This record gives sequence, C-alpha cells and structure tokens, in this order.
Amino acid sequence: METRLLGSTEEEIAEAARLLRAGELVGMPTETVYGLAADALNGEAVARIFKAKGRPQDNPLIVHIAERDQLAALVAEIPKAAARLADVWWPGPLTMIFPKAACVPDEVSAGLPTVAVRMPSHPTARALIRAAGPLAAPSANLSGSPSPTTAAHVMADMAGRIAAVVDGGESGVGLESTVVDMTREPPRLLRPGGITPEMLRETIGTLEIDDAVTHMLREGAVAASPGMKYKHYAPKVRVVLVKGTAAQYAAFVNSHAADAAAMCFDGEAAALCVPAVAYGRRDHPDEQAHRLFDVLRRLDELDAAVVYAACPPMEGVGLAVYNRLLRAAGFEVIVLDG
Ligand code: TXA
Ligand code: MG
Repeated sequence: METRLLGSTEEEIAEAARLLRAGELVGMPTETVYGLAADALNGEAVARIFKAKGRPQDNPLIVHIAERDQLAALVAEIPKAAARLADVWWPGPLTMIFPKAACVPDEVSAGLPTVAVRMPSHPTARALIRAAGPLAAPSANLSGSPSPTTAAHVMADMAGRIAAVVDGGESGVGLESTVVDMTREPPRLLRPGGITPEMLRETIGTLEIDDAVTHMLREGAVAASPGMKYKHYAPKVRVVLVKGTAAQYAAFVNSHAADAAAMCFDGEAAALCVPAVAYGRRDHPDEQAHRLFDVLRRLDELDAAVVYAACPPMEGVGLAVYNRLLRAAGFEVIVLDG
C-alpha cells in the first residue's frame, strides 16, 4: 500500500476522515506525539493498528475525542475528580482511565473493563476527530521505537503499512500524554507527561504515583498500565542512563570512552572526548521533552557500541523525561552521586 502524505487543509482533513470511516489507518498530529488513528468504534479497524505497529495484543489504546459531550457514550461512569480534571486540563496532554461503556470494542481496551480517553488540543487532531468521530490511537511508531514527533518520523516507521499521514507540523510537547487511572480512589498516575503531578494535585488534591513510573516492575508483578512494562522508546544502540552532576558525568564518560558516545545537555559536550548529541539545557525539562525522541532516533547514526545519556533532574516535566529515558535504557542506570 502506498502511504499518502496529506496536509492540514479542510479538503485534506476531509479526505483523511473519509479513509478513517472506511476502516483505514491514518497518522494524526497531536500536541504530544503523532498518533496512529483508527475509528475507535470499529473493532476490525482497531485490530489493524496492532498489526501495523507490531504492538503486543495486551496493550490497550487511548480513545481521542474533540468535545466533552463525546465522553459520556464511551464510559460507564464519570467520577467527580475526572470531571474536575477535564474542566481544567482538557483539551491537552492528559489521558484519563474510566470504566468502559459496552460500545467500546475489546480491541481498544485489550480486554480490560476500562477505557483510556483524551481530548488533544492540536487543531488538526480536533478537526479530524470532529469529521471522523472518536479515534483510537497509540503513538505512530513501530512498537518499541521512539515515538514520532514529526510526519517524517511517522513515514520512516509506517510508510507502506498505513493509508495516509496528515502533516500538522512538529509536536509541541514532544512526550506522550500524562495517564491517570480515575477508577481508583485516590486517582493514580500511571505515566508521567506534560501535565505534572504538581498540576494534578492542585486540581484534585491527592494523587498516588504508580511504582512503575520510576522503577522497573518486580518480576511477576502485574502492570497497571501495560505499556509501561516493556523496554520502549529504544534505539538499536545500547543506552545507559548516568545520574550525577555535569562534572561527575564528564569524568565517567571520558574514562569509559572506548566505542562510546554521549547524549548530554546543551553546553556540556565540550568537556567530553566522545561524539556527543545534546537534548536541551540541564535545567529546562520542557526543552528536553520537546527534543528527546528526535535525539533518540539519531543515536544509531553515532556509530557507537554504547551511548551514555545524562540523567535529567526529576522535577516537573523532568519526571516524564526520566521515565522515557529509563525505558530507552532498558532500566540500565549508573548512579554517580550520593
Ligand atoms: O500522547 C499520547 O498519549 C499519544 C497521542 C497519540 O495521543 N498516545 C499514546 O498512546 O502515547 P500509546 O498507546 O503509545 O500509550 C498509551 C498508554 C500505554 O502505556 C497503555 O498501556 C496505557 O496508555 N493505557 C491505555 N488504555 C489503558 C487502560 N484501559 N488501562 C491502563 N492503561 C491504559
Ligand atoms: Mg507508544
């Protein structure tokens, strides 16, 4: 199948919506990352997503809506705290998990009794959802690879596997949405993202943070969010996360320089004696989030046996950057400070 590259004009969005209603898959821009969209209420179309991505069957999908009144039909109940979070943070990079309504196909929920719903803020995504109806969409990368933040990234992974990609420019946030399980009391953070725990607590008070956000699951433990248990976001090269100050990091990398490369912060490459790419300033997590996946996609070009990635500070959006890097590194971490 030849994958068409569409722009964001009204006619092109109408064409993409027509493909979606016919059960085809379309790459969709959002403010977090690009999604691989299918008609959320068409189980056969949704099943094609798993095939195109090589995604494990037990990993459920997020349903994307454009208007608040699309929520009630998809869920069995809207907890009060969820309504408050939606008032404040929708549209935006927040996904909430609800008890699911019967109309949501098992292909979307991977057999779970719950469904994840998000209202993106990207104008093209919203126009597409208005024209096509609720869309199930995971990130539009091959399973395990870094998520796509441009239409070119989607083409690199999905050309020949899907009907079209709608180009809506670079994704602003650069990391996938925050995922919160609203079926629990108190609600529980399953995946950190652009909406931070601090922001959520300001709206609803208490919030628990799932262990899997910052740690590897214990052998045999059941993942609350199945997508968080896999090695993920990973380039082919081995990545090791290194925790320490700029000086400790440089000393470590320079004494382990054979066949190594560095993924460091802006302005810190000059102190290193290995090839290096920077992914933002040390104290600017928004910048790191925006650039992370593009930099991860480029690490294989460095031609190294191992890439030492400088660990970001874990405050605010930094928690989400850390969470993704930890998985890109397959949980391999070297701690230099303390
Ligand atoms: O920003 C985003 O969320 C992007 C854009 C395209 O919207 N989408 C995205 O989808 O990141 P995906 O499939 O790559 O990640 C969805 C995450 C996975 O970790 C999955 O396990 C979790 O959400 N998830 C989905 N439904 C769930 C459910 N019912 N219960 C628990 N976790 C769920
Ligand atoms: Mg993904």
